[in-house]
Amino acid sequence: MKFFVDTADLNEIKDLAATGMVDGVTTNPSLAAKSGKKFLDLIAEICAVVPGPVSAEVTALDHATMMKEAAVLKKIAKNVTIKVPLTPDGLKTCKALSSEGTMVNVTLCFSANQALLAAKAGASFISPFVGRLDDIGQDGMDLIADICQIYNNYDFKTEVLVASIRHPVHVLQAAKLGAHVGTMPPSTLRALFNHPLTEKGLKAFLDDWAKTGQSII
Ligand code: E4P
Repeated sequence: MKFFVDTADLNEIKDLAATGMVDGVTTNPSLAAKSGKKFLDLIAEICAVVPGPVSAEVTALDHATMMKEAAVLKKIAKNVTIKVPLTPDGLKTCKALSSEGTMVNVTLCFSANQALLAAKAGASFISPFVGRLDDIGQDGMDLIADICQIYNNYDFKTEVLVASIRHPVHVLQAAKLGAHVGTMPPSTLRALFNHPLTEKGLKAFLDDWAKTGQSII
């Protein structure tokens, strides 16, 4: 399973990339706004840190303008993935860009039928938002299970990028379902490393080691 980090905070991205666990980055207009940086500069800086796919979202609503925005974003770096919303114009843009070999991430997916459309439009990634479904009393992971099954049935190459991940249990559930990618906030990625018994066990080992008075180097 690939891990993407869902942030536009460059310091967080650099810090986590150093762990070797970051396979890509997703941004969205809200995260970009929060960063306070110029969007094109921000994407260029992220692409220089992470060689994997970096999602940059178009902000137009119509196909023609989406294509123009995508042309600008694509020029920033080879690993830019154009993010388009799951709308008729977004999918039209997805089809056009994917036919010319550009990676596309279709975002704001909330149903399996929407995911089916994105796969038919040649998306590289589909982003179902599990946390936002949980927020309205639905089970986001049921959607992931449905999409994985449907993509499997037809051998679609579109990767299931589980988005709106809120906590480590989402990551575990997505991994058990065989989702290709999970994009998560930095705090969730960091939380995956932790277990109280790891900390406790390490402390006990090091306390015992200190008693020997030895050092390895
Ligand atoms: C993914 O690409 C989205 O940016 C993100 O996962 C949305 O997460 P949220 O629902 O926590 O805002």
